[in-house]
Amino acid sequence: MDKIRGVVLAGGLGGRLLPVTKVTNKHLLPVLDQPMIFYPLRAMLNAGIDEILIVTGGQHAGDFLQLLGNGREFGIKHLQYTYQQGEGGIAEALSLAEDFAEGGKICVILGDNIIEKNICGAAKAFLEQPKGAKILLKEVPDPERFGVAVTEGDRVVNIIEKPKDPPSNLAVIGIYFYDARVFDIIRPLKPSDRGELEITDVNNAYLRDCTLTYDVLDGWWTDAGTFESLFRASGLVHEGGANHVD
Ligand code: DAU
Repeated sequence: MDKIRGVVLAGGLGGRLLPVTKVTNKHLLPVLDQPMIFYPLRAMLNAGIDEILIVTGGQHAGDFLQLLGNGREFGIKHLQYTYQQGEGGIAEALSLAEDFAEGGKICVILGDNIIEKNICGAAKAFLEQPKGAKILLKEVPDPERFGVAVTEGDRVVNIIEKPKDPPSNLAVIGIYFYDARVFDIIRPLKPSDRGELEITDVNNAYLRDCTLTYDVLDGWWTDAGTFESLFRASGLVHEGGANHVD
């Protein structure tokens, strides 16, 4: 298969953005002049990924249909939606994409992640990667907020989710490439201390069998899941735009 399908994870209940997430889904909030979810969708389209599944949840899931319809206006060739009950974690949300993936390679983007540039190079490299997974890393000043990677040369040797004492300043950003084995890896996972199936556990499973590659992302990256990062995201987009293609 010479195509990657896209999965945008827009579930969760947006607890860190209360009270505004009482009346809408976090991923529909504006980042400057666009709904948040437009940014990860654009990142996928820029990389030639135009068959997309949106996983959402909560009480306002219907609003996505209202905004995006069948996706054609946005340039999406094939748009599907599915619904995550509760907020059992990123890996749980991803498990809902198994039928959509149809045994092929997928790119997963967290619905609150925004990038300055693009993932064209990473997508191309992953298409050529015989098997496994690829993650993207970015140096950040506050690694304790993220999954943090320890690298040795061209290998990732460990990933720790939100470490109190970060071993590096390399955050694992919310854009991941997986082969079809990802669903077998998720199935036996157990919830973490915060009650979630963790994407970091998925990435560490690939790491253990030596099929995890990484790139360092070019340009800025931010999440937008807290008031502070939401504000910062709008500022970054205002300064120079997002999702640039070279
Ligand atoms: O932003 C990158 C970080 O995202 C990574 O560095 C971390 O390793 C990863 O665990 C994640 O950390 P957060 O704790 O910031 O993720 P959060 O719970 O904010 O969820 C991010 C997005 O994932 C959210 O906007 C929608 C989706 N999600 C999340 C949960 C918990 C779901 O679709 N379903 C869920 O149950």
